[in-house]
Amino acid sequence: MFCLTAASSNLIVSLESHVSTRGQKSVGDPPEAQRKKNPEVGSKRNPSRSCSSKMADILQNVMDHAVAVARKAGEVVRKALHDERKVMTKSSAVDLVTQTDQKVEQLIIQSVKEKFPEHRFIGEESVAAGEPCILTDDPTWIIDPIDGTTNFVHAFPFVAVSIGFSINKQVEVGVVYSCLEDKMFTARRGKGGFCNGEPVQVSDQTDVHQSIIATEFGSSRDPEAVDKIFCSLRNILTLPVHGVRGAGTAAINMCLVASGCVEAYYEIGMHVWDLAAASLLVTEAGGVLMDVKGGDADLMSRRIVAANNRTIAERIVKEIVPFSPTRDDAPPHNR
Ligand code: IPD
Repeated sequence: MFCLTAASSNLIVSLESHVSTRGQKSVGDPPEAQRKKNPEVGSKRNPSRSCSSKMADILQNVMDHAVAVARKAGEVVRKALHDERKVMTKSSAVDLVTQTDQKVEQLIIQSVKEKFPEHRFIGEESVAAGEPCILTDDPTWIIDPIDGTTNFVHAFPFVAVSIGFSINKQVEVGVVYSCLEDKMFTARRGKGGFCNGEPVQVSDQTDVHQSIIATEFGSSRDPEAVDKIFCSLRNILTLPVHGVRGAGTAAINMCLVASGCVEAYYEIGMHVWDLAAASLLVTEAGGVLMDVKGGDADLMSRRIVAANNRTIAERIVKEIVPFSPTRDDAPPHNR
């Protein structure tokens, strides 16, 4: 349930007219179904409608737009998969970016700006180009145009478009489109997680020895960090667990947790745009998020444990050798 601050009430007022003039419908909801869910759809406006139901409408519009634009972005990614591409590097020689990442991020941002002109953005490639990476209380779209860029470069078949939407620093909508598998993962706070419209649920396993754990090596090649990553991996592998896997994209790894295919995913080094949307999928599917040292997860800290339950999360935490990469919201000159 929302805590309606003055900022979000203003947001409702400013968005309401915008949304209603465009006459948006919920994707997949025929008018009759919409009316059943919300008797005011298609009827005379009721001045006594509560703020929270207006907010719910706005979030549904956000969800519909995120799904539509993620699908469009996925099409561009699929088409570009086998094209010749210019691969550039960012923070390290293995932190890759292509023109497709940049083009898809622009496509998403332009499309959202047209419909929600007052919203803010945190986008992987915009931040790489010098935009700030600060999460405020304002409505904010958190975008990774291609999560799994290295996979994309090598045509390794797991690539996702990840779109999260936050208000008051809380993720309210999460859309992860695994575009080569054509799986659309969606979640709204308090309303469950879905894959292609079917509910997803985390595994009910509580025994870590019967588990598969997902992780990634990330894009740092700093020997000290690599040693810690390997030490954690060795600890977890030798618990023993049934297996360790990595899809090459944080967002898809987390959707695998949400879908009950792996019990947990942990990593140190990924970014807020890799996590934001999928974090909601995990919690809406019944899972938990934690910092790698235990305690609350912080999406800007570049550290995460996402698990099916607290028992597994706490067991994994005991084996992880923690370190602290520079936070996503650090001033640019410190990054
Ligand atoms: C990367 C992927 C990868 C993870 C890295 C991320 P990108 O995102 O999610 O699985 O290990 O830490 O940066 O660069 O492909 O968007």
